[in-house]
Amino acid sequence: MSITIKNESEINKMRIAGKLAAEVLEMIKPFVLPGVTTNELDQICHDYIVSDQQAIPAPLNYRGFPKSICTSVNQTICHGIPSEKRLKKGDIVNIDITVIKDEYHGDTSKMFCVGKTSQHANRLINITQECLFLGIEQVKPGATFGDIGHAIQKHAESNRYSIVREFCGHGIGKKFHEDPHVMHFGKKGEGEVIEAGMIFTIEPMLNIGKRHMKVLKDGWTAVTKDRSLSAQWEHTILVTPEGHEVLTLRQEEK
Ligand code: MF3
Ligand code: CO
Ligand code: CO
Repeated sequence: MSITIKNESEINKMRIAGKLAAEVLEMIKPFVLPGVTTNELDQICHDYIVSDQQAIPAPLNYRGFPKSICTSVNQTICHGIPSEKRLKKGDIVNIDITVIKDEYHGDTSKMFCVGKTSQHANRLINITQECLFLGIEQVKPGATFGDIGHAIQKHAESNRYSIVREFCGHGIGKKFHEDPHVMHFGKKGEGEVIEAGMIFTIEPMLNIGKRHMKVLKDGWTAVTKDRSLSAQWEHTILVTPEGHEVLTLRQEEK
């Protein structure tokens, strides 16, 4: 495994890419309403990334992915493909944005509630976001990737949620997915040591039911096998000498 250490000029480009990805999530928020199709959300994000940001939507044609964003509704864990299906009151949807600017990637996702959502959906969404930030809190030089996984696993399981194991966070830079695999479960002190200049995502996926998933015939859409609800949140994180900097932080999180 070779984890790249980014230099100051690469870090500055990653800061810009991260900020742009975060701004797409801020821009799309008022459009996530009952009745909108996920294709419409895809089109709005695509146009904003290409025309306003003069950036590239990384998912489009990535390993054959047909759209510019991922939209994962209810029991979809991740990699949902935008379609003509309309969102309805009570749905929960993850929108995952990855942009390329000046050759570097920024990757982030968040959960949106469509109209009023159930208490059990809200609880899942909140605990999953807490897992992301507990993972982020671990990030500093000298800590290990196992520390991140452990913090996430402990919080998820103590709240009786399961963690999807087939997908993980990842190094990111000139490539969409670089080393290492950032697991959302693990043991303290295990795994590679974290160093300043590393940049990677943390993107836990939690299910109300069992952790098992299947991929639909489209080759992308990952759903919970038991059809239980799933939630995911993602940030791109830079390791600094002092700790970390979240490159994809939104205004609402500052
Ligand atoms: N953005 C996803 C991630 O967090 C990857 C999506 S791959 C795609 O790693 F092809 F579906 F876009
Ligand atoms: Co990612
Ligand atoms: Co992503």
